[in-house]
Amino acid sequence: MSDRYARLRARVEGLEAAGLRRRLRLVEPTSATTARVDGREMLIFCSNDYLGLSAHPEVRAAFVGGGGNGARLVSGNRRAHEGLEAALSATFGRPATLFPSGYAANLGLYSTVLGRGDLAASDALNHASIIDGLRLSRAERTIVPHASPGSIPAGATLVATETCFSMDGDVPDLQAWSGVHWLAVDEAHAVGALGPDGRGVAAAQGVTPDFVVGTLGKAYGAAGAFVIGPPELRELLISSARSFVYTTAMPEGVAAAALVGMRLATTERRERLAANAVRLRRGLRDVGATALGEAHIVPVLTGARTMEVASRLLDAGVFAPGIRFPTVPRGQERIRLTVCSEHSSGQIDRCVEAVATALAAQ
Ligand SMILES: Cc1ncc(COP(=O)(O)O)c(C=O)c1O
Repeated sequence: MSDRYARLRARVEGLEAAGLRRRLRLVEPTSATTARVDGREMLIFCSNDYLGLSAHPEVRAAFVGGGGNGARLVSGNRRAHEGLEAALSATFGRPATLFPSGYAANLGLYSTVLGRGDLAASDALNHASIIDGLRLSRAERTIVPHASPGSIPAGATLVATETCFSMDGDVPDLQAWSGVHWLAVDEAHAVGALGPDGRGVAAAQGVTPDFVVGTLGKAYGAAGAFVIGPPELRELLISSARSFVYTTAMPEGVAAAALVGMRLATTERRERLAANAVRLRRGLRDVGATALGEAHIVPVLTGARTMEVASRLLDAGVFAPGIRFPTVPRGQERIRLTVCSEHSSGQIDRCVEAVATALAAQ
């Protein structure tokens, strides 16, 4: 074999040796809460489809139309994009700008609003896309210990936090993060699922952050993302955000499906989601598991055994992968369970039982 890629192979081997090599599984949904995973029928307790809308027939039927054939600024802008932006702007009360993904939205937002000479404060557990957006901005960065708004340095231009932490499921007090600096929040796991009309944590807490990122591929059941902010922000993003300007528009069917998802993200589904989160977290704590968070993301701490626990869960018919370094700090390894409004009580109880058995096994 040629040695052309020897250094890449050595890195893969290094990951393998450190137990950090990742592998893809084939997931074929069979309902809102079940799927065949690598050919085995499983209960799904790790999806971000919090309201079960990606399985909804109306959302699925909306995925029609062509693929992107250009960036939105060139030949790719469709009625479906404009209609979705109008609906998002009406719902969130300020102009919305679509991005093909939440990752692209965070890259675009931070690299556009900040630059050299700015100081950005970022919660230590912020998502990789926020971290990368801040890096790209060339602003000076300071990492604030998780959930410690008291550590925001004087003179910060902007502070960035998630509103429902993706790996911890906790919800910050946004009032405490507000100040003279700009407040940028990532509501990826909150829009659709939390707050009045699904408008997220900021709306629930009566806070208006300067900039909001929301996703369309989680509770809304489609794909893509949006940024909300003042009119000046939208103008700037469209002209200057490289992850908006230099990328193919989201397919129009995706925008149409997201619009249907927004309509179907009802209070009734959100109430079922909240009740399911309570049932799962309470059940786990009752069997002695360390279940973190307070919303529909329910991480269970496992320590270094996380991959073994995940594999025992699979054997019990529950799909919820282990999360390990570098996604979470060493020692904080966990099973990231998530609930869906469509889980039945019986499915939740089966999950609790499987976790209890997996944790107890030696
Ligand atoms: C907090 C947070 N922000 C942004 C993203 C990225 O969103 P997307 O999957 O749409 O790229 C994710 C995860 O996917 C996330 O958890």
